[in-house]
Amino acid sequence: MVKRRFMTLARHIIEGEKRHPEATGELSRLLSDLSLAAKVISLEVNKAGLVDILGFTGDNNVHGEKVKKLDFFAHEILIRAMDHGGHFCAMVSEEEENIIHIPAKHKIGKYVLLFDPLDGSSNIDVNNSIGTIFSIYKRITPDGNPGTIEDCLQQGINQVAAGYIIYGSSTVLVYTTGEGVHGFTLDPSIGEFLLSHENIRIPKKSHIYSINEGNYLYWHPGVKKYIKYLQEEDEKMQRPYSARYVGSMVADIHRSLLYGGIFMYPADHRHKNGKLRLMYECNPMSFIVETAGGRASNGKDRIMEIKPTTLHERSSLFIGSEEDVIMVEQFISEEN
Ligand code: AHG
Ligand code: MN
Ligand code: MN
Repeated sequence: MVKRRFMTLARHIIEGEKRHPEATGELSRLLSDLSLAAKVISLEVNKAGLVDILGFTGDNNVHGEKVKKLDFFAHEILIRAMDHGGHFCAMVSEEEENIIHIPAKHKIGKYVLLFDPLDGSSNIDVNNSIGTIFSIYKRITPDGNPGTIEDCLQQGINQVAAGYIIYGSSTVLVYTTGEGVHGFTLDPSIGEFLLSHENIRIPKKSHIYSINEGNYLYWHPGVKKYIKYLQEEDEKMQRPYSARYVGSMVADIHRSLLYGGIFMYPADHRHKNGKLRLMYECNPMSFIVETAGGRASNGKDRIMEIKPTTLHERSSLFIGSEEDVIMVEQFISEEN
C-alpha cells in the first residue's frame, strides 16, 4: 500500500512552534489565517475563466499600472482575512499607496504584514502561473497603538516569516520562519495544504537562467557580459545554460528553488531602480531563498540588508543558486 502523509500546514506550524517554548502560538494562528485567504484566492483563480472576472477594472494602481480585477479581489480578500485576528498593527499591499490600518473595532497586534496580492498578473488571461507573496515583521513601536511607517520599513533581515503561494497546475504554499523552507500542496478535495516539499534546499549551482532578455539593450555592461558568458559552450560548467522566463517572479523563483537557477531583474536604462518592489517582492523571496541555501543581492549588496525608505521602492534583484549569484556579482563589479 502506498504510504500517504497527512502533515497539514496547521500541524506543521504548531510543531515548529513547540520547539520554541517562548512561542505564543500567534505566528501559527496568523499563518493559518493567511492560508485561508490563499484557499479563497486559489478558488477564484481556478474559476477565473468561468466567471466574469477577467479583464481590467479600469483603475491604475499606485505604480500607474492597470489593475486587473483579480489583483483587487486578492488584495481585498487578504485584508478581510487578516485585519480582525488581532495579530497585526498595520498592513501594506502593492495595490494601496499608504499603510492599511487595522479598523478601530479590532484588536491591534504586534506584527506587520506586507504583501503582493497577485504577482505575475499579466499571466492571468493566458492561464500561466501567478502567485501571492507575503512578508511578516514584528512591530518596533510600542504595542497597543496603530502601526506606523517605521514598523513597516524594516530591513529584510528582521523578517519573522515570509512565503508565497503559487497558483499553478496545483496550488502550493511555501513558507519559512527562518528554520527551513517548506512547501505544502493544496488538496482541493479536502481543502487542506499538505506537506509536499519538506526542507527545500536550492542547488548550489545551476544551469538555468531567467531574465527578460528583451531588455538586453538597456542592461549594465556586466549583466550583458554575464548573459553572453552563460550562452557560451563549456561542458564542465554545464554551459550553455537553459533560459526559462515565465514573467511571474513567483513561478520563476519557485522553479529556481526546486531545480536550481538564477532569476534576475536588474536595473537598466529604463528601470533605474529595477522593476521589482523591495518590501513585498524582493525581501520575502530573499528570505526564502537564503534560508534554502541560496543567495540574493542587488548585484552588489545583500537584498535583506538594504535600508528601505519608502513602502513601494524598487530594487534590482539577482536571486537563486549561490554560485550563480556570486558569478553575476563578479561580472558587475568588473565592469564598474
Ligand atoms: P505584478 O504582477 O505584481 O506587477 O509583478 C509582475 C512582476 C514579476 O512577477 C515579474 O517577474 C515581472 O514583473 C515581469 O516583468 P517584465 O514583464 O518586465 O519581464
Ligand atoms: Mn509582483
Ligand atoms: Mn501584483
